[in-house]
Amino acid sequence: MDVGVLGLGHYVPEKVVTNHDLEKIVDTNDQWIRSRTGIEERRIAEDDMDTSDMALLAAKNAIKDAELKPEDIDLILVATVTPDTPFPSVACIIQDRLGATNAAGMDIGAACAGFMYGMVTAKQFIETKAYKHVLVVGVEKLSKITNWSDRGTCVLFGDGAGAAVLGQVSEGKGILSFELGANGAGGKELYQDKETGHIFMNGREVFKFAVRQMPESSVNVIKDAGYKEEDVDYLIPHQANIRIMEAARQRLGISDDKMAKTIKKYGNNSAASIPIALSESVRDGKIKDNDLIVLVGFGGGLTWGALAIRWGR
Ligand code: UT7
Repeated sequence: MDVGVLGLGHYVPEKVVTNHDLEKIVDTNDQWIRSRTGIEERRIAEDDMDTSDMALLAAKNAIKDAELKPEDIDLILVATVTPDTPFPSVACIIQDRLGATNAAGMDIGAACAGFMYGMVTAKQFIETKAYKHVLVVGVEKLSKITNWSDRGTCVLFGDGAGAAVLGQVSEGKGILSFELGANGAGGKELYQDKETGHIFMNGREVFKFAVRQMPESSVNVIKDAGYKEEDVDYLIPHQANIRIMEAARQRLGISDDKMAKTIKKYGNNSAASIPIALSESVRDGKIKDNDLIVLVGFGGGLTWGALAIRWGR
């Protein structure tokens, strides 16, 4: 059975925080942030909007786009490292608020690679015919765990949500291959500090890991799907740093117009980055029916994941 995406949706908060706004709170400047990261602004959720509120809005859009009803969803998987609370899970909160009365639900913690882990998990349940429709959400309210006095991290992150409904698609379409990986020994380079609750990151080490892992995982899934790099129509890398994304793109020999770049306006949304970029790319007509697309992410854990998808239902 071929498993693919039936519908997509996303939500980003309205409040825009520019690099110039950040100059007022930490010792940084627009020029540094733009040239070192590619970020110009990010969206930050208001205090009364929590992770589940954003997840709900993205999920509603995805279910509508899939032309389904909440009752048609059998399982909800929410990839996040910033749940409202550890329990109930964000999945259970939105199961209730969506009225997805037939769905089971759980959260997945794989940091920025979380949406990849969610997609692959969904595929297994559908392929085995255990479930027909699985809702996968990547959502983060990183602003609540950001150390707003650490210029090394606070300029990077933003809030938002992206969602996909997965189910059976026509023969030859859907997820062609995947790779998931983890290296717990690298966990010390990127984590949530137990004492302060803030994000800690060894930027240079994570940078090196990402520049190596993104092309490697992409090549693996392209090869497993039976294709070559030049066959790829569109690349959606995790939006962590434009320099990392560019390095991956160049190593794969993919042209600039074939890579999603939401980082400029949203920053790094962790688990939400890839589904937001995917949803916008499809909406804007950058991904068309039958295109070969590659999604690739990496993050705290350390974790990574990639998928090759023949786009369409
Ligand atoms: O999804 C999570 C995964 N995370 C990532 O993928 C992040 C990966 N890492 C990175 O993107 C980059 O390492 C950063 C953007 C975090 C940092 O860029 P960098 O080119 O590696 O800079 P650096 O850490 O080597 O710092 C260079 C200089 C330092 O000053 P000195 O020591 O050379 O005087 C920093 O203190 O830039 C300084 N600096 C800043 N200056 C202005 C660090 N952050 C800032 C800032 N504004 N916001």
